[in-house]
Amino acid sequence: MNEKWWKNAVVYQIYPRSFKDSNGDGIGDLEGIYEKLDYLAELGIDVIWMSPVYKSPNDDNGYDISDYQDIMDDFGTMDDFDRVLKKAHSLNIKIMMDLVVNHTSDEHKWFIESKKSKDNPYHDYYMWADPDKNGNPPNRWESCFSGSAWEYVESVGQFYLHSFSRKQPDLNWDNPKVREEVFKMMTWWCDKGIDGFRMDVISMISKYPGLPDGPENGNGYTGNTSCDGPNIHKYLREMNEKVLSKYRLITVGECPGVNAEQAKKYANIDGSELDMIFQFEHVSGSALKPCHHGKWDGEAMTMPELRANFTKWQKDLEGCAWNSLFLSNHDQPRCVSRFGNDSEQYRELSAKMLATMTHFQKGTPYVYQGEEIGMTNVQFPLDEYGDIEVRNAYQDLVIKNKTISEDDFRKAVWNKSRDNARVPMQWDDSENAGFTTGKPWFRLSDRYQEINVKKALEKNDSVFYYYKDLIRLRHGEELLTEGDYQLLLPEDEKIFAYLRTSDKEQWIVVANLSEDTVSTEGLAKYVSDKEDIKITNYKDRTGIKADLRPYEAFMMRIR
Ligand code: GLC
Ligand code: CA
Repeated sequence: MNEKWWKNAVVYQIYPRSFKDSNGDGIGDLEGIYEKLDYLAELGIDVIWMSPVYKSPNDDNGYDISDYQDIMDDFGTMDDFDRVLKKAHSLNIKIMMDLVVNHTSDEHKWFIESKKSKDNPYHDYYMWADPDKNGNPPNRWESCFSGSAWEYVESVGQFYLHSFSRKQPDLNWDNPKVREEVFKMMTWWCDKGIDGFRMDVISMISKYPGLPDGPENGNGYTGNTSCDGPNIHKYLREMNEKVLSKYRLITVGECPGVNAEQAKKYANIDGSELDMIFQFEHVSGSALKPCHHGKWDGEAMTMPELRANFTKWQKDLEGCAWNSLFLSNHDQPRCVSRFGNDSEQYRELSAKMLATMTHFQKGTPYVYQGEEIGMTNVQFPLDEYGDIEVRNAYQDLVIKNKTISEDDFRKAVWNKSRDNARVPMQWDDSENAGFTTGKPWFRLSDRYQEINVKKALEKNDSVFYYYKDLIRLRHGEELLTEGDYQLLLPEDEKIFAYLRTSDKEQWIVVANLSEDTVSTEGLAKYVSDKEDIKITNYKDRTGIKADLRPYEAFMMRIR
């Protein structure tokens, strides 16, 4: 089955813990998702990507799974899940599960067996290695959450690999039994009727034989010895053959450390592996001042860098692979704060501008919960952050190694922390933003009275209705799916403009990423008597000619 129905779909990501609490325990849950499905149908999205809801001790908010075929108590039961699936389907919304199989929880039964002894049948399900001759870890690999990626287990006399937290041991994909188990579990979910998988750090599953150290210390997400390992395509092809190809799915691989050249294999349109991947170059910071301490220093990409990066992916994958389009997710800060302007004056304008710039490229757009109402970053005192990434980095960089001052680290957390995306969803202006009637598991943004769903639904030019229009256009206009992409004004410091072209038509997308008013002179040759505006964030825009106001964006047909 190779029908590419997802090419004109829009995906909405739910982070269940922070979406909607239905029973007052302060934690979002499946029943909460159920309640809000009508809201998502109103927005018009096609697919929900649900961050993990499986049984988990919750060391990394559910990305540490102890039972792949059960639901975390906090979220409800398998019956609750089935109800969500059924209602979603009745609203024509598909459900894409988060598939976290680079690692399990250390409380998964496989790992509990694995660490009993070297000759336990499950031992080889994980990545175990002997200490070096001085009793130290087998190599210098670092965890994406700081510190060594190896943990010693007395009873076995070996270290196990954990690319993330200590409670997330890496599976050994070279063991055919592991692959078999994973494929069996995936088949179980597919038979239940789910519609796809978002595959967590899937570019990391194939480990480098001999566990070689890279040229530098460290490994982490993009380390050259952790991503895109030698057997990755073999394993993905096998997965495709044994599971994916048998269903009508959408699949997207989270692929840190994979460049556009490599992506052509993962996301090849021949359908032999995955439908598309998430790459992270455009959210990884500037080449001019790169990060040295994981993501905690360095600078954001400049607009020209961002534009060049998007364009590179549009061009490189053209005709051979498919792009995913996103600016935010549960691991990224809020896009309006990061790339736009979250002041009261410009928040809505710049949120719409960013969406215009992103959604009209070629690929499948992803919207992260709250993005559709322009939710913003937060600034809390450091001790209020619960994310394991922040906590570990603080211990490592501020306390132990003293390479970043507490002040600088706090600023970095405000700008970059994953928790920016994980504050509870803002539904209305009542206490706790209508997220819960109890005590929320994590503090709410101070701005929920200003920014919430209720308000957005009441205002016909809100960010919400703008997203709704973008989605409607994506569904209705074939050119947006199939048309060619061509960058305009590659040297401009403020304008991101491009053409989408098919045999019959040509459309232009123009976005001013700055707070300044800028001339559109450079686009003069595209002025035409066929100008027909499709969407704009300043209502009185009718043609190309007039200057662009702060954060103005539009798309119009020109041929
Ligand atoms: C992915 C997830 C992230 C998680 C990590 C480990 O990057 O998106 O949230 O912490 O993998 O599973
Ligand atoms: Ca709850």
